[in-house]
Amino acid sequence: MKQQILSLLPADMSWQIHWFDTVDSTNNLAKQLAQQGAPHGTVLIADRQTNGRGRMGRSFSSPCGKGIYLSVILRPPCPAQELMHLTCAVAEAMCNAVENAAGLRPGVKWINDLIVRGKKLGGILTELSVDPESGLARHAIIGIGINCSQAQEDFPSEIRDIAISLDTATGKQTPRHLLAAEMILSLQKMDAKLFSHRDATMAAYRKDCITLGHEVVLLGTEESRSATAVDIDRDGALLVRFPDGTVRTVCSGEVSVRGMLGYV
Ligand code: BTN
Repeated sequence: MKQQILSLLPADMSWQIHWFDTVDSTNNLAKQLAQQGAPHGTVLIADRQTNGRGRMGRSFSSPCGKGIYLSVILRPPCPAQELMHLTCAVAEAMCNAVENAAGLRPGVKWINDLIVRGKKLGGILTELSVDPESGLARHAIIGIGINCSQAQEDFPSEIRDIAISLDTATGKQTPRHLLAAEMILSLQKMDAKLFSHRDATMAAYRKDCITLGHEVVLLGTEESRSATAVDIDRDGALLVRFPDGTVRTVCSGEVSVRGMLGYV
């Protein structure tokens, strides 16, 4: 698999690709390697994860050979505050990668879910390490999981109705090494223009974001409130309008956003 992926990437590529049969979580392993000094552009891909993780403490089902489970270590030399749009930029990169590999462009459920036919194709988990004194980013771990070849019955029962694989969505088989290579190429492009093309990236993200214009429920710790998603700012925060007309900015991690009519 590693050789198949490498055969589709430029020979002089500076990023290093590491392949594993089984890990608990590629994000966990990436974090360990980053703490040991692994360089910018270290990519980890696993055939299987025993403890794949998603946002908000959720798990990410990662059965053997059925998906892409990939993490990359980035070391952007900037204050962490300038990386607020990173997850959106990665989501755009993944929409491009899936479209290039399989001919189908997913939508994005704010902020990090890739959606096809109203179901979850994959997700992104971005984890940032920040130097508390300087506020500079030490490293960012970007983890991406994409469901590739699961039949509907392969998904655990609790997500069977809300998950979908690329093969089911397209009705054809997309080789995993092709998708993995497109993901790495897209991530490299994203990295190269993370700051120089920020406004264009966010404009593209708004276009792909299926949450905009829809009713959402903000699930806070104490109460749930419904509102309409009206915009996304250049930091990737969601602007919502409540029925009384007030508008509030919602940051990812602060609340979970659910569509009124089910998952999306
Ligand atoms: C989510 O659904 O909230 C995000 C899912 C992210 C899953 C990927 S799979 C590779 C990497 N390793 C993990 O443990 N999680 C991410």
